[in-house]
Amino acid sequence: MAEVVRVGLGERAYDIVIGSGVRERAAELGAGLFLVTDSRVEELYGAWAKQAFGAVETFVFPAGECSKEPATVVDICRRAAAARFDRRACFIALGGGVTGDMTGFAAAIYMRGVAFVQIPTTLLAMVDSSVGGKTGVDIPEGKNLIGVFHQPKMVLIDTDFLKTLPVREIRCGLAEIVKTGVILDAGLFRELEQDPAALVERIDLNRYEKIIRRCCELKAGVVVADEREAGLRAILNYGHTFGHAVELLSNFSISHGEAVAIGMCAAAELAVKLGSISHEDAARQKALLTALGLPAVLDRRYSVDAVLDAMGRDKKNSGGRIKVVLPDGIGRAKVCQPPVEAIRAAVEAIYA
Ligand code: NAD
Ligand code: GLY
Repeated sequence: MAEVVRVGLGERAYDIVIGSGVRERAAELGAGLFLVTDSRVEELYGAWAKQAFGAVETFVFPAGECSKEPATVVDICRRAAAARFDRRACFIALGGGVTGDMTGFAAAIYMRGVAFVQIPTTLLAMVDSSVGGKTGVDIPEGKNLIGVFHQPKMVLIDTDFLKTLPVREIRCGLAEIVKTGVILDAGLFRELEQDPAALVERIDLNRYEKIIRRCCELKAGVVVADEREAGLRAILNYGHTFGHAVELLSNFSISHGEAVAIGMCAAAELAVKLGSISHEDAARQKALLTALGLPAVLDRRYSVDAVLDAMGRDKKNSGGRIKVVLPDGIGRAKVCQPPVEAIRAAVEAIYA
């Protein structure tokens, strides 16, 4: 049975429909559909999409974060224009966070805004990126530096897509789930601590469905309270200020989820130094990430100066000072602007 989480944003409200087999609802989306997907998802699910949507215009881009750049979005818009989509068009993002972020951005700017639907196919996209309307692309100067808020008109989360997801991508989704537990829900964190290895070794769709639903409820609550990140929503970036820096410095060989895991370890070190979590709770987070097979240390090839420089370019910073999200015990978080020397010490503390 499908579960529904409502994102109560007034005239921009929408449903997140979650369950095994819910992708079949895509057939009810109507006319004017423009499908955007990546090369890997097309290989796996192109035939299903043809059957579900009929002979719709489809834009396929090379899989991977390196495609998440302005040129791809321009190509998506140009294809939509060539196929004569008008303002009644609905773009469909079938794929992971890269597809969702770019398709949403293209939908936001094509003819000054058309509708779009998220059909996330990675765990990371199911628990995080498909919900909340953050869309955009990377530029060499930084991750997600160009983008807008544009809410989808629906999110269809079919857990069956997880059956083909490589274990590395499962782990990346788990990093965002750990994040959600640390910042918002100690109960979710404890649930992950119950046999974490099984979450990686065996894809139990029932267990995942509950976890995905909880993450969507929690994220929806934050988005409804602060849609455009005037305050509270910033806590969703826990681990991301350090993480984005590492992701960028590695030229994306460290994936988003892995970088967030490393970033959460650095943030927890900082939180211990500043007294907002205990050493024991930081150790629990590290133990959980390690049990899930996620990285918890940083390679020395990324110098502390390079990491600090990349962090200094994060779009959340203000007044020339780096902003970071710190856990406040497990289950709560706060935004801080600590002295740069404390941030430096936290990065140094997570070197392998
Ligand atoms: P991704 O979209 O690149 O997907 C990862 C890989 O999995 C790709 O190679 C893809 O082809 C493959 N894949 C997708 N679905 C599959 C399936 N069912 N079976 C097999 N392979 C599959 O990356 P991601 O990890 O999903 O997303 C990361 C991106 O999300 C980053 O760009 C990050 O900035 C963004 N993000 C955005 C938000 C937001 O709120 N908008 C939140 C978190 C992350
Ligand atoms: N992933 C951060 C946000 O949606 O705000």
